[in-house]
Amino acid sequence: MAKLRYGLIGAGGCGKGKHLASYSQIPEVEMVAVCDIIPERANDAADRFNIEAAYTDYHEMLREEKLDLVSVATPNHLHAPATIAALQAGCHVHCEKPASLTPALVQSMIAARDAAGRKLMIGLNNRFTPWAQFAKKYVEAGLLGEIYHAKCGWKRRRGIPGKGGWFTTKAQSGGGPLIDLGVHFIDVANYLMNFPRPTAVSGQTYSRFADATPFNPQATGYTGTYDVEDLAVGMVRYANGCTLDVEFSWASNIETSYSFVELYGDKGGLKFEKGKLSLFGEAVGAPLDSQPTLPADTAWGVAETKYYVDCILHDREPLARAEEAVVIMEIITGLYESAARGQEVWLGRRPPPRRTAKK
Ligand SMILES: NC(=O)c1ccc[n+]([C@@H]2O[C@H](COP(=O)([O-])OP(=O)(O)OC[C@H]3O[C@@H](n4cnc5c(N)ncnc54)[C@H](O)[C@@H]3O)[C@@H](O)[C@H]2O)c1
Repeated sequence: MAKLRYGLIGAGGCGKGKHLASYSQIPEVEMVAVCDIIPERANDAADRFNIEAAYTDYHEMLREEKLDLVSVATPNHLHAPATIAALQAGCHVHCEKPASLTPALVQSMIAARDAAGRKLMIGLNNRFTPWAQFAKKYVEAGLLGEIYHAKCGWKRRRGIPGKGGWFTTKAQSGGGPLIDLGVHFIDVANYLMNFPRPTAVSGQTYSRFADATPFNPQATGYTGTYDVEDLAVGMVRYANGCTLDVEFSWASNIETSYSFVELYGDKGGLKFEKGKLSLFGEAVGAPLDSQPTLPADTAWGVAETKYYVDCILHDREPLARAEEAVVIMEIITGLYESAARGQEVWLGRRPPPRRTAKK
């Protein structure tokens, strides 16, 4: 069987560290080409991963190389145009998170996917971790009962990526930690809750770490833009009555950096925090806590890329679908809108006002 001809668009930290490092380990994949607008990055990636062709223009790469599979790991605002171009060139696409900047842009990626008859998976690697896969089965087995509330977050004490660069420029990133980190765990929480329909969001954002202060001495020596938040908090309401609390920061004066997902069910609870999954229930009249023994997590992206190649080779619909990414983008852009307007925002059609019965 012929190998899948693979190319990468965007040879930065994630392109090299996740996509090239993991696709290059898959025997069914032939590493053909790499593209970055910075020629040294494209050349360096090609050298390190023994790839013949390096480009600075992805349109040219797509025209010349007749690729089957392309990863998109550019800054966020280029995800939609690069993905659409690759789909139109007949490639399956593995696009990094967040899928794009708005729900409408993700819809345009879906339209291109359907017109091309190719597959599109979003790079939500946290779904592929052993704990998340175990938790999904645990929830589906009914062991939590009905889930009525959830919490998720990823809080860093100090960890603002590329200050002054594209990450902190809203027009290119779409926002700060809410879209950057939030997309991972808002996705996992929704996945575990089986994607109930979100109806309203209420959010607040804060930007307190752009400037140097005695508490923030790292904020010196950068130029460029910082027009995003460094902390976002909020709540999502769903049509089934369930709620989700979210909290994401790139910098905050907290004890330590960590990520978490917590599910509250009427039969049991589940918490993933600081790398450990705990289950809470009851047995013979007493609270009973347990921890599953799970396989070690694989290196960044390895489980996800192997899974995607398998979906392509066996014509299976991948997890982390763009349709789900639309829902996540509705939640995230809704939270930003709520923060800007200082009020709760309805997603979709606002329900009619409750009528009072006439006496
Ligand atoms: N899934 C994860 O765990 C994870 C982790 C980190 C980053 N990411 C995502 O990966 C993407 C890249 O992040 P990063 O940290 O690697 O950023 P980065 O800045 O290190 O890399 C982006 C690269 O894209 C290149 N680029 C810009 N415009 C281009 C164009 N028109 N054509 C080709 N290349 C172009 C840049 O020169 C740069 O080398 C982002 O969307 C980010 O959210 C995902």
